[in-house]
Amino acid sequence: MPAILIDHPLVRAKLTRIRDERTPPDEFRRGVSELAALMAFEATRTLETIPAEVRTPVAPFPGAALARPIILVPILRAGLGMADGMCKVLPEASVGHIGLFRDEMTHRPQKYYSNFPSHLASADVFVLDPMLATGWSATEAIALLKTHGASRIRFICLVGCPEGVAQLSAAHPDVLIHAAAIDDGLNERAYIVPGLGDAGDRYFGTFL
Ligand code: URA
Repeated sequence: MPAILIDHPLVRAKLTRIRDERTPPDEFRRGVSELAALMAFEATRTLETIPAEVRTPVAPFPGAALARPIILVPILRAGLGMADGMCKVLPEASVGHIGLFRDEMTHRPQKYYSNFPSHLASADVFVLDPMLATGWSATEAIALLKTHGASRIRFICLVGCPEGVAQLSAAHPDVLIHAAAIDDGLNERAYIVPGLGDAGDRYFGTFL
């Protein structure tokens, strides 16, 4: 399944700012958070609702409520910035965590931490990682969530590439992939080109 591109002028402009190598960590952090908040709006479009009648001061109103609770699962560490932004739009969401680091030789993810809310099976789950590069981290993270009972899973990234989308959609065809941009591809170090560099390093200012 192709990625769903969240193509909006505000998203394009903010993404350009954080791609710029001159953008310092404080502005980068703000940009990631704001982008995630903007993307939340589109990525939640397919959530189911149930009828929820309320009374306005004037009359009854046949309204709506979300059918299920929401769980955000950032992939550590770069996904944390996206969780921050999404929590601004979805303050009632619970947050789980998956810690994966990338083996720089094999480019494959190694899990070092996971902690999930107990209601994964009854929730709509959003997995967050700014970069969908090889797709292996997202694939592993989602496989782990499924073994813990999650079945309604969406994936949100800022920048993806064809290789990552192909890997993730082949491994988990049931998972909708939302991206602000799909770039050209990967370089020999499995970084997205043109991408924005190492999202974790830029977010946490650890590249100096
Ligand atoms: N992770 C990043 O932070 N950036 C990339 O380009 C690829 C993986």
